[in-house]
Amino acid sequence: MKTDELFALLRRRGVLWPSAEIYGGATGLYDYGPAGRLLKRKIEDAWASWFLGLSDDYHQILASEILPEAVVRASGHLENFTDPEVTCDACKTEFRADTVLEKVRPDGIDGLSAPEIAELLKTHKVPCPKCGASTFSVPKPFNMMFGLDLGVTGRERGYLAPETAQGSFLSFPRMFEVGRKALPLGIAAVAKAYRNEIAPRQVLFRMRAFTQAELQIFFDPTSFPVPFDSVAAEQLPVVRADRRAAGEEAVVGTTARELVDAGGLPEFYVFHLAQSFRFYRDVLGYPAGSIRLFEKSAAERAFYNRIQFDIEARLESLGGFRELGAVHYRGDYDLTRHAEGSGKDLSVLTEDGRRILPHVLELTFGVDRNLWGLADAALGRDGERTVWKLPPFLAPYPVAVLPLLKKEHAAAARAVLEVLRSAGIAAVFDTSGSIGRRYARQDEIGTPFSITIDGETVDPQHPNHGTVTLRERDSKSQERLPTDRLVGRIAPALLFPRPPPAAVAGSGPA
Ligand code: GAP
Repeated sequence: MKTDELFALLRRRGVLWPSAEIYGGATGLYDYGPAGRLLKRKIEDAWASWFLGLSDDYHQILASEILPEAVVRASGHLENFTDPEVTCDACKTEFRADTVLEKVRPDGIDGLSAPEIAELLKTHKVPCPKCGASTFSVPKPFNMMFGLDLGVTGRERGYLAPETAQGSFLSFPRMFEVGRKALPLGIAAVAKAYRNEIAPRQVLFRMRAFTQAELQIFFDPTSFPVPFDSVAAEQLPVVRADRRAAGEEAVVGTTARELVDAGGLPEFYVFHLAQSFRFYRDVLGYPAGSIRLFEKSAAERAFYNRIQFDIEARLESLGGFRELGAVHYRGDYDLTRHAEGSGKDLSVLTEDGRRILPHVLELTFGVDRNLWGLADAALGRDGERTVWKLPPFLAPYPVAVLPLLKKEHAAAARAVLEVLRSAGIAAVFDTSGSIGRRYARQDEIGTPFSITIDGETVDPQHPNHGTVTLRERDSKSQERLPTDRLVGRIAPALLFPRPPPAAVAGSGPA
């Protein structure tokens, strides 16, 4: 589906809509409706189940979303968190340089200097997206953070967190102290990040307030043991930066082992890259061929990274592969900067008595972008109907209870609802319209199971008395079963997947 069509469908089904819609909408800001809120929460929980499941030493925190200025100065965001901005000479509209140049440079302009960007605009006579003129100002850096005045004096400056990661860095000493006092230590957070994007667009893809799920793993650079054998044979769809530089664009299937032995990447990095790939394929349900692991070169990667592979999915609505998450090896950049900025010693004593500054591996995941990705990848036409083939554990409503007749079957339907809800299964009740229309509504919102209550259910003389019909969304298959077997039939499909025990690292139960 095209972006507009997909967004219209999501709006109609109560998943999301622009914030402040009655005022014409606020650019880059969106509100989630009931179905969207539930789906988003489940994506976050599925993320936590998988990534915190990788080690007993990975834990989740909830950090402040407002940061004192000293933090963003030390982190480098005050100086470096910029996008190049150009202004059209004719109509004076400001643009992000990469959006104006996207036909010329579809892979983006990461790593290009301001003179190189200016040269591209000139050589290709790139037209202004608004008025068509083709001369622009010299590109200048635009800082994307939202600043705040804290307190009444206005002298204390704060910033809305531009990335969730900072909360983990700031919490590291306390977490080390209250925990096992050992590395590796993973600190995860799911929270809002705020960026004053110059050109918010493509709905959830470039927002000004969005949710990130991030895991920062603090480790001893001389030793970060991982159960590598559990991923060694995994074929990973990588696009290496050096091969791209040599003109190769294709995705190359390479095993995790080869990426280490011949590809020069550390085991700890490839282990987490492979687990991230598995999350997309095995948990979110992307077909393997629609995901690629796209390495950024030294010039392209974020200022704090030593190794960066973006996790990209092929999205029809956005016309190609787009970044949904990434695996970043940040080295000791963050703790070094925060040690300097705060004047605190952030080094730790290893179990064998060495004093070291931990390095950081970061797994980052944009929750909203991934929600859009799941709509793009799994919501579409299937013959006559529109179906959202979400994995059952992500579906906003796992079960819909649909009495055929509103009055006659209401009591039996309520009893079924009670059975499900008392087992912790969220079920919706839908009595409006024909059964066909109700199935269609549930298919569009991704409800994996629908239960119909009919005359046989409530007729004490009928052999099917006390049974209901369970319809499965994707196959449309129907089975008749007694009410007391419903929970056992449905509940296993609603559990969030976890990594198999062989892939779990860490200290284990104390
Ligand atoms: N801590 C690392 C970090 O913030 P990033 O590549 O800037 O790295 C990580 O962001 C993820 O956050 C991206 O892969 C994307 O999924 C999501 N993201 C970034 N900017 C976004 C925006 N403006 N709107 C929606 N999601 C965004």
